[in-house]
Amino acid sequence: MIYTAFRTAYLQRRLPCVAGSGVLSAAKAAGTRFMTTETDVAPNFAFAFDIDGVLVRGAKPLAEGKKALKCLQEHKIPWVLLTNGGGKSEVARVTDLSEKLEIDISTRQFIQSHTPFRRLVDNYSKVLVVGGDADTCRYVAEEYGFKNCAMSLDIIAAQRSIWPFHRFSTEDLQQARALSEDAFDAILVFNDSRDWGCDTQVIVDLLTSEGGKLGTKNSNLEQALPIYFSNNDLLWANEYHLPRFGQGAFRTCVEKLFKDYTGRDLQSTIIGKPYLFTYEYAHGVLNDWRQEKFGYEGKLQRVYMIGDNPASDIVGGNGYGWYSILVRTGVFKDGDQLHAAAKPKVIVDNALEAVMHAIQNEIKLK
Ligand code: G3P
Ligand code: MG
Repeated sequence: MIYTAFRTAYLQRRLPCVAGSGVLSAAKAAGTRFMTTETDVAPNFAFAFDIDGVLVRGAKPLAEGKKALKCLQEHKIPWVLLTNGGGKSEVARVTDLSEKLEIDISTRQFIQSHTPFRRLVDNYSKVLVVGGDADTCRYVAEEYGFKNCAMSLDIIAAQRSIWPFHRFSTEDLQQARALSEDAFDAILVFNDSRDWGCDTQVIVDLLTSEGGKLGTKNSNLEQALPIYFSNNDLLWANEYHLPRFGQGAFRTCVEKLFKDYTGRDLQSTIIGKPYLFTYEYAHGVLNDWRQEKFGYEGKLQRVYMIGDNPASDIVGGNGYGWYSILVRTGVFKDGDQLHAAAKPKVIVDNALEAVMHAIQNEIKLK
């Protein structure tokens, strides 16, 4: 069964990312046949890649990230992108990322922090949408199916004194929509707030209102409606050499102010990595994609979760039973303390090394 010279040449030609990495000789030695040609068995493993700090740093794509995806694409090994980022529609993000990473990415292999909010559409009709640039997230929410989406922009346009320190330009305020009279049913934080002061005031106003009615206040300062945060990251990695505060930091401020103002703990639902809800959602997407794109049946035995943030990617991957690989191209730095739940299976330099490690692991397991 062992590899013929043809096979080696075929793999070296088809797998520039593997050639010279020792994986080929290991594969040959082990007689592994998961490198897919028409006749080979479907790989029973797949990959979930984090984005910020793994494939890109802010607007800058990472070379090893590109190579890693290309290598898997050539092997016909399934992968999805699982990010706590967001703020744009899935179509807009995959178009942007496909260009940056020079590879075709489908929305059907892409999960961003707020994608699972789709499942809340039937629960709420009037929602406050928070975060993102201008009112982009309103359009994302409407695309998901939410009927009545208002933003702080609309609320400030209707009554400036609600937050006199707002940063909206005249142009922004012209984009504002008239507010309907009915009460809000829920608050959905889609992405990082661009004006923490304004959004926090509006959020706490609604949370302490009479049944979600803006401009009212309930006498016991009880929480009047549910609030969802789509991303728990305190820190994330962009172009700057030090990690930046993320949506989790904003939530911490909202919680503290709600507590100081009402004396009560804020009851909120948080999705995104590391939470089970998002990993279950991502697993479903990966299974569907694997079948749709490659026609692979059979149960997935292993999913390699490649991330830069121990608190979200690794805790989440470990908690969901995936094989967690931590890279050094983002938030995590050597010497950072990792508590047990955030300890990855392995730490590597970058996404390409992570893929190499996974392939070697598959060879060992065959
Ligand atoms: O806001 C995005 C950030 O929190 C992390 O994104 O891709 O590293 O999960 P990502
Ligand atoms: Mg990341």
